[in-house]
Amino acid sequence: MSDVGTKELRIVGFLCNWCSYGGADTAGVGRFKQPTDLRIIRVPCSGRVDPLFVVRALLTGADGVLVSGCHPRDCHYSEGNYYARRRLEMLRRLLQFMGIDEKRFHYTWVSASEGQKWQQVVTDFTKQVHELGPLHDKKEKAD
Ligand code: FES
Repeated sequence: MSDVGTKELRIVGFLCNWCSYGGADTAGVGRFKQPTDLRIIRVPCSGRVDPLFVVRALLTGADGVLVSGCHPRDCHYSEGNYYARRRLEMLRRLLQFMGIDEKRFHYTWVSASEGQKWQQVVTDFTKQVHELGPLHDKKEKAD
């Protein structure tokens, strides 16, 4: 059962190893309460996230996808998150074109010390996906 009070949904999170994964770990170590719907996939950098990873996840069972990396100028590969930001903005438009509500996708920046921010991001995004409901029970039409 999800912490947001309804049946657990499938949310996939692509987290960069150096910042956001650390932030999620900080939240865990700090025992910050957070929803249990998120399944984390650790990637070396947000720049490693091919937009097709997100599309594939959404087409094959995920109800929502979250991508999180280092803050701008903090990427350990210097510009990976800048590339990610450009690609993920394009992806947002592609999702609308595919008929998937763009609210099912979110990207953000969380550092390793921001456990509290991580908790907030996960809680807010999970709530948003729960408001939309399961993706695969019904075919949705984007506005
Ligand atoms: Fe974290 Fe590039 S290493 S976004």
